[in-house]
Amino acid sequence: MESVVIREPNKLVIEQRPLPLAANGEVRVKVKLAGICGSDSHIYRGHNPFARYPRVIGHEFYGIIDAVGEGVDPNRHGQRVSVDPVISCGKCYPCTVGKPNVCTSLVVLGVHRDGGFSEYVTVPAKNAHPIPDAVSDKHAVMVEPYTIAANVTGQVAPMENDVALVYGAGPMGLTTVQALKSVYKVQQVIVADRINERLAMAKACGADHIINNEQIDLAAFLNEQGLKPTLIVDAACHPSILQEAIGLASPAARIVLMGFSGEPCQIIQQGITGKELAIFSSRLNANKFPTVIGWLEKGLIDPDKLITHCFDYRQVVEAIELFETDRRKCCKVLLTFSA
Ligand code: NAI
Ligand code: MN
Ligand code: ZN
Repeated sequence: MESVVIREPNKLVIEQRPLPLAANGEVRVKVKLAGICGSDSHIYRGHNPFARYPRVIGHEFYGIIDAVGEGVDPNRHGQRVSVDPVISCGKCYPCTVGKPNVCTSLVVLGVHRDGGFSEYVTVPAKNAHPIPDAVSDKHAVMVEPYTIAANVTGQVAPMENDVALVYGAGPMGLTTVQALKSVYKVQQVIVADRINERLAMAKACGADHIINNEQIDLAAFLNEQGLKPTLIVDAACHPSILQEAIGLASPAARIVLMGFSGEPCQIIQQGITGKELAIFSSRLNANKFPTVIGWLEKGLIDPDKLITHCFDYRQVVEAIELFETDRRKCCKVLLTFSA
């Protein structure tokens, strides 16, 4: 089989590898489609502190079970599955409080262990979630990015009368906007970004207000519109955003952070306590695959609004370079591995 391997930072090769065997409790997935994410590019460029090389990248993937290991129901052979990249121990403190996504021995497929940019990949059987017939292949490969939005929104239980402000209209911001609008029916969703094309995508995803906060002052805009955000999601992840969000937030608002910046950010505590703000963070997903598969089955979310390109996996370098450089036209880029 062929796999997309990052041998070392900036060295991507398509490598011939032996077909892996499904071990005890595992299934082998014949990959059909995979999605390129910022973290794949970060591992390729050597900017992911968790990555070890050589590594088969890819944590957003969908395919068909073509072999089952010992202890796995043989009827699962042939099942269409999306794979949760989060592998956890089930026993540590975070695992026992429902946060396997921050397991003390967390393994993420495509980061700590070989991932899905491969013709075949073996994964724990419980990570391979069955996809109902009503959900298309292209939607199935998008489950993982929406699980991030499910995790973010799951932290804060959005309500219809929330005024939500989302920073960033990249894939993470857009999936969050769709969840807020279509799943939680939040009446007012504002999206701020620097790129007008991305703001147009946010509008198409249901945003009620879009604002280019490089050209227009966000605080002044909110003031003018009489909007006081009660729920703020930082899906842009610049260290300066938290303090700005604290300033813009309504009393009793919730703020969710998703960034991994190593840079310090300066915040004034009075702004938080004075309004009794709640600040949450969200990493990966905690058992959200069934939730998102349910959203897709009910037609609540529309991944087509994010998918802008699709390449054969042999064109993976071109695909990643396009993803990295053309942020105006490019959002989610898919790779096909088999028909
Ligand atoms: P992206 O880079 O495609 O999107 C970020 C967007 O934010 C861009 O459109 C950019 O123009 C915009 N932006 C940058 N600075 C801004 C500012 N000051 N105000 C408003 N908009 C601004 O990235 P993607 O894939 O959407 O991911 C977003 C962030 O989420 C990344 O930092 C990524 O590391 C993080 N992330 C976190 C995850 C988690 O589980 N916590 C999972 C996936 C991504
Ligand atoms: Mn991803
Ligand atoms: Zn654990």
